[in-house]
Amino acid sequence: MFSEKIISWYEIFKRDLPWRDTTDPYKVWLSEIILQQTRVSQGLPYYIKFVEAFQTVELMAAASEEQILRLWQGLGYYSRGRNLHFTAKNIVENYDGKFPATFIELKKLKGVGDYTAAAIASFCFNEVIPVVDGNVLRVVSRFMAIDAPIDASEVKKAIFEITQGLIDKKKPDIFNQAIMELGAVICTPKNPNCIECPVTIECKGRQLNMQEKLPYKAKKTKVKNREIKYLVFAVDRLLSLKKRDKNDIWENLYDFYEMPVEEISVEKYLKKTYGLLQSETYEITNVSQQKHILSHQKLQISFYFIKLKSQISIPGNSFFSPNEVDYMPKPIVIENYIRNL
Ligand code: ADE
Repeated sequence: MFSEKIISWYEIFKRDLPWRDTTDPYKVWLSEIILQQTRVSQGLPYYIKFVEAFQTVELMAAASEEQILRLWQGLGYYSRGRNLHFTAKNIVENYDGKFPATFIELKKLKGVGDYTAAAIASFCFNEVIPVVDGNVLRVVSRFMAIDAPIDASEVKKAIFEITQGLIDKKKPDIFNQAIMELGAVICTPKNPNCIECPVTIECKGRQLNMQEKLPYKAKKTKVKNREIKYLVFAVDRLLSLKKRDKNDIWENLYDFYEMPVEEISVEKYLKKTYGLLQSETYEITNVSQQKHILSHQKLQISFYFIKLKSQISIPGNSFFSPNEVDYMPKPIVIENYIRNL
């Protein structure tokens, strides 16, 4: 049987991961939010940092959003970090510090979708509900040779129902860990290791030699090109930064002043906008370029380092000391740029 075979395999070959030694819903929730769209190797150090910084949901709720985002720095998809903090506060204020114990109730929490709710409900409370993440979609679509687009909601729903039929009713927690583990280490997107797979004989995808072609996806994510021109104003060791607005990448993180991209000349722009003359108030001492790829945008970033003779007033921007800058949450390109200054 599928479930017995993958559970036996899992018991022998599972990786030793810290969130597997606990049934504390706070820690399971934290690990699952960190691991959304993130590989274990990348997420693990963040999990350790967060658990060290905030042993309990109360401690996380008492932190500032900036503290959370600073710790989140480098993981990407920063809305996860903001939702993490929102939900920690919600749990403390409205749930007496205790996570709800059912899939239905867990789903009401911000940032907690079907997958995360199923993970917490099964790992911590033994609810019989399958986790269906990218790993599971891949394993099941191969195992059953499902040649339909897994990004279509009806196909996802069908795979959820199939997985409900496969799940071990007595050990839903171990079954869920096992099927995800199989997807992560054996039934990988490229070059699946069918030789060492515990269900290779029963796998319809393998029988039809379709394992490499599945899962099938209808949509390709569209990636847009975007240019950013940063003016990095500096006076001695102070740097000018601003907090980013809502409804764009990097919401609530800090970065530099942005010159409209249609402007070609920094000198003309600063003269026209702020009446600044290069000879009197500043010099441009360095210009550099950097490419940065996000999930939906390819960024071409220019940094103009502008050494000012004295501080100027720029709406929305303020000057900060190196120590202050260190504590501010920043996109990783900005962090790296500052480190290289
Ligand atoms: N990816 C997402 N959740 C996971 C978990 N609990 N263990 C390993 N990898 C995961």
